[in-house]
Amino acid sequence: MIEEIIKKFASDGETEQPSPWKRQPIIAGNWKMNKTNTEAEALLKELLPLVEDVKDRAVVVCPPATALTLAVKKVGPSANIGVGAQNVHWEESGAYTGELAAAMLKDIGVTYVIVGHSERREYFGDTDETVNKRAKAAVSAGIIPIICVGESLETREANAYKEFVSTQVKKAFDGMGALSAAKCVVAYEPIWAIGTGKTATFEQAQEVCEMIRATLAGLYDAEVADAIRILYGGSVKPDTIDGLMEKPDVDGALVGGASLKAQDFSRIVKFGQKKPEKAKVEKAEKKEISKTD
Ligand code: PGA
Repeated sequence: MIEEIIKKFASDGETEQPSPWKRQPIIAGNWKMNKTNTEAEALLKELLPLVEDVKDRAVVVCPPATALTLAVKKVGPSANIGVGAQNVHWEESGAYTGELAAAMLKDIGVTYVIVGHSERREYFGDTDETVNKRAKAAVSAGIIPIICVGESLETREANAYKEFVSTQVKKAFDGMGALSAAKCVVAYEPIWAIGTGKTATFEQAQEVCEMIRATLAGLYDAEVADAIRILYGGSVKPDTIDGLMEKPDVDGALVGGASLKAQDFSRIVKFGQKKPEKAKVEKAEKKEISKTD
C-alpha cells in the first residue's frame, strides 16, 4: 500500500516524498478574509525570502480568493511552497453563485484547499456532508484538502470532544478510497482555541491528533493512517510551535492570525531550529575548533 501511496503522490506531480515514507510536516497559513492584493503582495515579498530555503517541510499560504493568482505567481514553481484556497465547491460548474470549482482552482495553480473550517461551518452552513463532498471534489481534481475538525468549548467541557471529533472525521472521509484518503490532510482546530490566544496544551493537541489517527486506522488501516498528515490549529504562535511539533501525531500547523505577519509565520515555519544568534555562535565555535585541528 505504501508504495502505491508514494506512486500516487509522484503521479500528481507533487514534491518528491521521502523514502522510506515519513510524513512531511506542513505549516499552512490561513489568511481568512484579510489582505487586499496590494497588501498580499507586500506580505509575500517579505515572507518568501524568509522561507524559500526551507527543506523537509511544506509551506502553504491560503490567501483570499482574490489574491490566489497573485500568490501562485509570486511563489513560482517552488518545490516546498504551495498556495491554498479557503473553500471549494463539489460540483464541476453551474449555477452556484459565489462558489469556486476544484478545476478552476487547479487551473490557476492552487495545490491545497482548506475545507470545513469552523467559521464556514458556523457562518456559511457547511455541514459534515458538504465537507465530505468538498474534500472528495478537491482530491479528484488533484488538490490536497486540509479538512478541519474540532469541538466547541461546550462540547469539550461536557467531555464529549473525542466522540464529536471522531464522528466529524468519519463523516468527512465517508465513501473515500484509501489512496485518496492518504492524500488528505486533517487539521484539528478546537474552536475555543481559534483566535482566542488560548492554545490547547501540547498534550491536549496530541491526545486528539492521536485519536484522529486511530479513527483513520479504523476506517482504512494503520499504513494509510500513518501516511495522513494531521495538523493542529488554534492560536499557534512562534513560541508554541516547537512544543507542538515534538508531539508524535502532530504533523504541522494551520495558522491564522500569526500567518499575517511575515516574521512570525516564518519563525513558525522554521520550527525546531535554533535561534539564529545561538546557531551563529555554534558555527563560529566549530570554525575555531577546525582551525586548531
Ligand atoms: P488562529 O486561527 O491561529 O488565529 O487561532 C487558526 C485558524 O482558524 O485556522
